[in-house]
Amino acid sequence: MKPRSPLDALFNPRSIAVIGASRHPGKIGYTIVRNLIESGYTGKIYPVNPFAKEILGLKAYPSVLDIPDEVDMAVIAVPVGIVNRVARECGEKGVKVLVVITAGFSEVGNREAEEELVKIARRYGMRVLGPNIFGVAYTPIGMNATFGPSRIRKGNIAFITQSGALGIALMGWTAMNELGLSAVVSMGNMADIDVVEVSEWLADDPHTRVIAIYLEGLKPGTGQRFIEAMKRVTAKKPVIVIKAGRTRRGAAAVASHTGSLAGADTLYSAGFKQAGILRAETVEEMFDWARAFATQPLPPGENTVIITNGGGVGVLATDAAELHGVPLLQPDNELIEKFRKTMPWFGSPKNPVDLSGQAGVDNYVAALRVAYESDKVDNIVVLYCQTAVLDPIDLAKAITDVAKEYRDKNKPLLVAMVGGIETYEAMKVLNREHIPAYPSPERAVGSLAAMLRYKRYREKLGKQGLV
Ligand code: ACO
Repeated sequence: MKPRSPLDALFNPRSIAVIGASRHPGKIGYTIVRNLIESGYTGKIYPVNPFAKEILGLKAYPSVLDIPDEVDMAVIAVPVGIVNRVARECGEKGVKVLVVITAGFSEVGNREAEEELVKIARRYGMRVLGPNIFGVAYTPIGMNATFGPSRIRKGNIAFITQSGALGIALMGWTAMNELGLSAVVSMGNMADIDVVEVSEWLADDPHTRVIAIYLEGLKPGTGQRFIEAMKRVTAKKPVIVIKAGRTRRGAAAVASHTGSLAGADTLYSAGFKQAGILRAETVEEMFDWARAFATQPLPPGENTVIITNGGGVGVLATDAAELHGVPLLQPDNELIEKFRKTMPWFGSPKNPVDLSGQAGVDNYVAALRVAYESDKVDNIVVLYCQTAVLDPIDLAKAITDVAKEYRDKNKPLLVAMVGGIETYEAMKVLNREHIPAYPSPERAVGSLAAMLRYKRYREKLGKQGLV
């Protein structure tokens, strides 16, 4: 069972007050109430606004103190000048966690107000997320307490972000790309709750399989604690970080954005490595890897087979495998003969297993069966180049069926499809069915490589008796 944590109120509040709930569509305080309602939040929602009787059909209260119920979480979206006053009222009310949307604190040099906010929180035993954030969402309870898009695709990737605008943008982007999220957490200035504490909570969350973090920097002096705590998190589940501010100019931009210390990039790299964190170079890469971790079992071994209908993409995948340290299986004669039976005489049964451009659904299905049934094969990469003889949607459906049939084999399966709009539709089918599909062989292989790195890391911990 998950240990109790002070952050339970942030992810599982029984009731939420929105302080600064607005009567006016388009305003932040209105959008948060609307998102909570539309996302199907199962707890109680209490809009707070001294000038309103009702907001979006819900009774509004002049102050949090007037709410005739316990309040676990207060989302604060009033101007900076009144935040600390309403925070004090929250303390008197017994609120457990404040989600402070309001900007205008330390990120613009207003340190006093931020320090005062933390002091008030400490005095009353409250925790603070923010300030300067777009909110928090946790899909298992249908809670979207953000002013981002109302629709979040449910899934098991937790996304923590130090950038607000990028975070909001990626909420929409993930939904469009069939990426399911368990949680979205905007960190902002991290006056109190930080990336480490949120990661620790998510490490024990049964609805989260992988944690993806957009990180700008850590507070000075917290590096060692970050490494030690994240070691415990990565022993439980994979953590992927994209670290912004790698360059000198990027680091300067970070300082004026969230006030964090971007620091020497090499130090971050070394720290991530020590902590078992997978460092992605781009946002796309971070979510590519997260997609694989979220849907596939960890590789049971290293031996990888590539099945393709195109020699060229097979070669590109082979190059990517070598570059990323993904070992390709050298099939023995018995396996070669089995693969040979799945293809026309001019195909190639070695690895990559090239079914040829003439390949149809049956060829792919037969080759996939061989790969699943062979105990020499640990991981499978399927590549498809669009041809007029094989409809990608038919292939996607067939791959899905075979993968379901062999689910108990626990072998990761990753797919890459190269082609026109139809291949994108087919990839949607696959991704919706929890088979990670990518538009290039390199991205599929790169994602498998990340899984293998994490597998090796866990094995190392296992040898030390740490997992
Ligand atoms: N208690 C509760 N509600 C109150 C109180 C009070 N004491 N006093 C006023 N209100 C009401 C207001 O009347 C208003 O409701 P109304 O529209 O029905 O009249 C509502 O609270 C909001 O107050 P406003 O004065 O209208 O404030 P506004 O909505 O313009 O701004 C906000 C508040 C959004 C918090 C703003 O100060 C702010 O910080 N904006 C930036 C937020 C941000 O960017 N955060 C980082 C996100 S990440 C990113 O970069 C995307």
